[in-house]
Amino acid sequence: MEEETPEKIIERRKGDHVEICANEDLTQDYFYWDDVKLVHNPMPEIDLDEVTTSTTIFGRKLEAPLIISAMTGGYGKAEEINRNLAAAAEEFGIGMGVGSQRAALENPELARTYSVIKEFEVPLRIANLGVPQLIKQGLTAPIGIDDGRAAMEMIDAHLLAIHMNYLQEIVQPEGDTKSRGGLKALETFASALPVIAKETGAGIPKETALRLKKAKVKGLDVGGLGGTSFSAVEYYRAKSAGDTKRANIGKTFWDWGIPTPVAVVVANVGLPIISTGGLRSGLDVARAIAIGAGCAGMAGRLLPAALDSREAITQEIQTIIDELKAAMFLVGAKDVKELAATRALMTGRSKDWLDQLSE
Ligand SMILES: Cc1cc2nc3c(=O)[nH]c(=O)nc-3n(C[C@H](O)[C@H](O)[C@H](O)COP(=O)(O)O)c2cc1C
Repeated sequence: MEEETPEKIIERRKGDHVEICANEDLTQDYFYWDDVKLVHNPMPEIDLDEVTTSTTIFGRKLEAPLIISAMTGGYGKAEEINRNLAAAAEEFGIGMGVGSQRAALENPELARTYSVIKEFEVPLRIANLGVPQLIKQGLTAPIGIDDGRAAMEMIDAHLLAIHMNYLQEIVQPEGDTKSRGGLKALETFASALPVIAKETGAGIPKETALRLKKAKVKGLDVGGLGGTSFSAVEYYRAKSAGDTKRANIGKTFWDWGIPTPVAVVVANVGLPIISTGGLRSGLDVARAIAIGAGCAGMAGRLLPAALDSREAITQEIQTIIDELKAAMFLVGAKDVKELAATRALMTGRSKDWLDQLSE
């Protein structure tokens, strides 16, 4: 059999990720967002049609505190998925990130699968690279500031997200598991470009948030536990490749990480927070804002509709925004500022986490 080139392996992996995320249940058996309770206001004294969801984050005005999180780019179907997502982001005036752009830096023919989002007026566009790629891994040279700049130019980005995904790297067969020097490299990037640090499903604790703040990042996407688990994704990939050892590791670390609502609270070190990880509805978006996030992020929940059609993703986001407005009305918050100041209770396992983390 002909051996696959590294480019082909990356391309196949990207396709696998989308297919698995769209078709398998990768979530946990516990819904951490249900631990966050907003307090009902029986006399809101506002009208539903007065409720406005607009907000400003990273100096960009969004019509709702919502970002479509980084998902794809760099393989066949990705262009259509990103086109559908970007059209919806334009329609609702919300932010959007693209998936890791490493593939297009190595093979410029793939740039189109990301740059398609420039065809739309997306008010906040976020480029994406991974912290493991900022470090030399085996024979692969690290990427530099010029690559970061090129990734941003590819989609005319306002920000560059540098993702931290060591949970995924440790479980996938071709994983980049060198991490020494990552923080220093990230700091070099953040001193030259508008960088946010982004976890991808395992959360950010306070200590790391403080170190990232010192490294001069502009914001944190806490990407916590509770939604898409990349350990679960790699479990399915390993299983279909007949790799029992990897499949077992994937299963063992399926629930690894800091639940997103906990991460939103503990990583709040004075930088804007994007709350991604397991958000299912506009009510979860409202909960995230009420516990301190500047904006919510969603990936897995949006993927099936984005794969389906522009109409499907438009309908999906419309529902989320309607639910957000309903939650705001029911707590008596007429704008995002009032929602951020509304009372929220932390219960259940998330409260246990918080109690012990603050001891
Ligand atoms: C198919 C898919 C591909 C993803 N690829 C990337 C990526 O390339 N870069 C990145 O930073 N995050 C990536 N993510 C992670 C998401 O941005 C997000 O942090 C994570 O899925 C948690 O959010 P969720 O629970 O709403 O899915 C991907 C997620 C999905 C579902």
